[in-house]
Amino acid sequence: MSEPLVEIRDLSVHFRTDRGTAEALRHVSLDLGRGRAIGVVGESGSGKSTLAAALMRLLAANLARLDGSIRFEGRDLLALPLAETMALRGTRFAMVFQDPMTALNPVFTVGSQLVEFQRARRPFAPSAELRERALAMLAHVGIADPARRFHDYPHEFSGGMRQRVMIAAALLTEADLLIADEPTTALDPTIEAQIVALMRHVHAETGNTLMLISHDLGLISQLCDDVVVLYAGTVVETGPMAEVFRRPLHPYTRALVACEIGDDKQHGDLLASIPGETPDLSRVPAGCIFADRCPDAVAACRDRVPDLRAFGPERRAACSRL
Ligand SMILES: Nc1ncnc2c1ncn2[C@@H]1O[C@H](COP(=O)(O)OP(=O)(O)O)[C@@H](O)[C@H]1O
Ligand SMILES: [Mg+2]
Repeated sequence: MSEPLVEIRDLSVHFRTDRGTAEALRHVSLDLGRGRAIGVVGESGSGKSTLAAALMRLLAANLARLDGSIRFEGRDLLALPLAETMALRGTRFAMVFQDPMTALNPVFTVGSQLVEFQRARRPFAPSAELRERALAMLAHVGIADPARRFHDYPHEFSGGMRQRVMIAAALLTEADLLIADEPTTALDPTIEAQIVALMRHVHAETGNTLMLISHDLGLISQLCDDVVVLYAGTVVETGPMAEVFRRPLHPYTRALVACEIGDDKQHGDLLASIPGETPDLSRVPAGCIFADRCPDAVAACRDRVPDLRAFGPERRAACSRL
């Protein structure tokens, strides 16, 4: 594993809800290797977006608890003054959100925003050059007639087009860490393939670190070197993508991979074939969080939370039955 760009240690994120405290992430530790493409997988509600939001320091206002550390090149993002984290955002790290309207400003044209997104990285570049780069990137992400669309406002684009504009914006920042949260979920397969090719190209060209969040193992397998498997707010397995998908260790990962290979693959409903439901995160049970649905569980699994243990130099899994 290369030297990590980001080291997340013991990260817990809880939210206040009217049903109590939702423990969205609990004691998450993982490294994002510099220059690696890391896939974060897990079904809906596993904490993927919360992890991205913590990295961006964009957690919802009903945050009840934020513990642990997120070191970016050695500096703890959670301990930095917010202004300093904001300064890193958009220059050192950038994000493609699940909802494109969170990132685009409705009162400025798309083109002017695409130019501004580049300024932090290229403060002295002539505007004409930034404009050319923006137009080229719009064409890359499949926007027809970019020279005309450049002057349109975000609301003049369809949802799928806005998503593509946002991917263009994130790629134009040339950030060292690019976080993409389900970037292609709303797009049709042809456009998805284009975007994947573009992300791969940018990743190869810039050597950026990519954190790709998706419930789609197929997408992850096309782009990622490493994979992190989340279940109900905890990391259950990490390792090189090819190894994890070929020989999953954790019973949850085994189920995910089996669903992907089987004919019953259903996006957003990965575990349809496993009995039981994801746990209520406002009433987290003792012991292993997967025990209720695990085919291998024994009574002892409910006694304590299993550690994320090493299995060889690059692999980890949190299961006391392994
Ligand atoms: N602002 C919030 N308030 C209350 N609960 C939240 C909030 N954000 C996320 N959650 C809960 O945390 C869990 C993880 O959510 P999320 O990170 O969005 O998962 P994913 O992106 O994997 O679908 C879910 O149970 C979700 O309901
Ligand atoms: Mg999400």
